[in-house]
Amino acid sequence: MHPAEVAKIAQRRLAQRLCEQRTFAAVVMPIRKTMPTTKHQDTRSQRAIKLESKFGAHNYHPLPVVLERGEGVFLWDVEGKRYYDFLSAYSAVNQGHCHPKIIAALTEQAKKLTLTSRAFFNDVLGEYEEYVTGFFGYDKVLPMNTGAEAVETAMKLARKWGYKVKGIPRDQARIIVCSGNFHGRTISIISASVDPDARADYGPYTPGIDVIPYDNLPALQRALEHPHVAAFLVEPIQGEAGVMVPHAGYLKEAYEACKARNVLFMADEVQTGIGRTGKLLACEHEGIRPDVLILGKALSGGVYPVSAVLANDDIMLTIKPGEHGSTFGGNPVAGRVGIAALEVIKEEKLTENAAKLGEVFRASMQKLVDEFGWVTLVRGKGLLNAVIIEPRKDGRTAWDLCLLLAEHGLLAKPTHGDIIRFAPPLVMNRQQLDECCAIIHQCVKAFH
Ligand SMILES: Cc1ncc(COP(=O)(O)O)c(C=O)c1O
Repeated sequence: MHPAEVAKIAQRRLAQRLCEQRTFAAVVMPIRKTMPTTKHQDTRSQRAIKLESKFGAHNYHPLPVVLERGEGVFLWDVEGKRYYDFLSAYSAVNQGHCHPKIIAALTEQAKKLTLTSRAFFNDVLGEYEEYVTGFFGYDKVLPMNTGAEAVETAMKLARKWGYKVKGIPRDQARIIVCSGNFHGRTISIISASVDPDARADYGPYTPGIDVIPYDNLPALQRALEHPHVAAFLVEPIQGEAGVMVPHAGYLKEAYEACKARNVLFMADEVQTGIGRTGKLLACEHEGIRPDVLILGKALSGGVYPVSAVLANDDIMLTIKPGEHGSTFGGNPVAGRVGIAALEVIKEEKLTENAAKLGEVFRASMQKLVDEFGWVTLVRGKGLLNAVIIEPRKDGRTAWDLCLLLAEHGLLAKPTHGDIIRFAPPLVMNRQQLDECCAIIHQCVKAFH
């Protein structure tokens, strides 16, 4: 990685750490200041936060809000305060919280049969596989549970295809990835990461991975010259990196460059897929169909861990029985939930809604960019958007603005210190979006 890029990441991390090092009292009390408490009694929120802190691993740093209920675009905390959800569990809850159709599918199937493992057939999996392959237009699906597992599956699939079809010498296969990527948390995936928090102290790393800059075609062309490249793994928009949208034409040209070199184009649409960006898949914005499609999150509407890798027979059938799998992958509950979640996307026209409301949201945020110098940029597609907030002179950052938004009933989370991602459930309506934009405007003004 370029030293300037390393320095930028380190600077952002420092800013993030500084803003996250607020004490419990400093962050919880302003939000909870209206709640009745006695001197010696914690609120339910405080108790829940303390429990997590005492008994849970400290691998997350959540905003100090304790949620107990969700419905559609709304969440409620344990004190009964209502919030608009503008994170949607990192785009898993595209269909809205506790969607009745998906919950009905879950509960009905859960009463009947939950898990058989793949040692036997079950009466739902085939139906689900037919539905999901038809929905996305592929010959085959390989069902898994989490996004990271699906990415790992795709990496294994690429290697297997590389050896059996492309003829790469054994153990020589390479996979190209992009800096700034986020594909999950396993050892092989963090081997592909450039984020020091994700990587440092977790080596040794999986070999055979080449990192190139994102949104850079000449770099991809150069990397593709290596004859042992099996696949290019890319997010059509880098969500975790702060909603980084590549220039128009990048994905199409990258796809064509891969084709010219007999390299698989693998799209990680775990965050961008299933309506989020205003198309069913973000790759559709450039009219391309990945050789290997990786899905997760909204494939269950946030109800259950369901992920999938889709590909055609010439790729997928290189994996043979016993070589890959998962006890829970393809279980009957996941199958029923998956079908219902995709039906909701289609029946409620959520993709179209994301496209429409995304335009309104970005236009509204652009007004803030025009008015306040420290709100520097809004970017995104559909309802996956980010706003960049420069730290204020007095040291307040995007984290503090998110606390203020929470106080005003809107939940969003900063990423990389200065970027706020705004990604509400796709079931939001125009009136709700206008109300949310008004809340954001009000908070930004108060933050000035
Ligand atoms: C693009 C992308 N890929 C993979 C993952 C990993 O998914 P999971 O957390 O379900 O393992 C994520 C999670 O945020 C993601 O955004």
